[in-house]
Amino acid sequence: MIHPDIESILISTEEIDSIVTRLAAEIDRDYAGDDKNLVLVCILKGSVVFMGDLMKKITVPVQIDFMKASSYGSGTTSSGNINILLDLKRKDIADCDILIVEDIIDSGNTLNFLIDHLMRKGARSVKTVTLLDKPSRRAPHLKDFNPDYHGAIIDDVFAVGFGLDYNEKYRALPYIGILKPEVYHTEQ
Ligand code: PRP
Repeated sequence: MIHPDIESILISTEEIDSIVTRLAAEIDRDYAGDDKNLVLVCILKGSVVFMGDLMKKITVPVQIDFMKASSYGSGTTSSGNINILLDLKRKDIADCDILIVEDIIDSGNTLNFLIDHLMRKGARSVKTVTLLDKPSRRAPHLKDFNPDYHGAIIDDVFAVGFGLDYNEKYRALPYIGILKPEVYHTEQ
């Protein structure tokens, strides 16, 4: 049953499942071997549902960790100024092959900042996986920025569900849906 605030389903539960299966297989292939120490870093909060599904499908040894970042500024477009609200506190970071897990890339500012931040902290390697990507929203200086592993490329629509929110709602929907415009027009 579709939620009454959802206009249409963009990516169904079944489609998400096959996307996550594919991504896990790609990650398994690239992180196989005793010389790898894969650490999935979930960027709270939106990535938590994707992270939970992805880690279950990865078969190589994996550890998990969490970070929280927020961009500050006004309006709906990310400012590029990123605050780290929860940082990694690992002492073994020099031995970690970090894979940052994101639900969505929009301007690219958050991921671009986090990659640099984790490399500066001394991680052995830092790669990125995103469930959704909106390349049309990329900041001008990040036009060529791409994640290492891609779920689905989507248009510039208001996507919610499977971790993604609007005003903290809809994160628990088991699919990615497009929010009805009247929902965000009446609440803004
Ligand atoms: C979203 C998303 C990314 C970021 C992407 O998080 O999870 O972290 O925005 O945007 P960018 O590419 O323009 O930087 P959000 O700040 O909405 O927080 P949330 O995950 O807690 O909902």
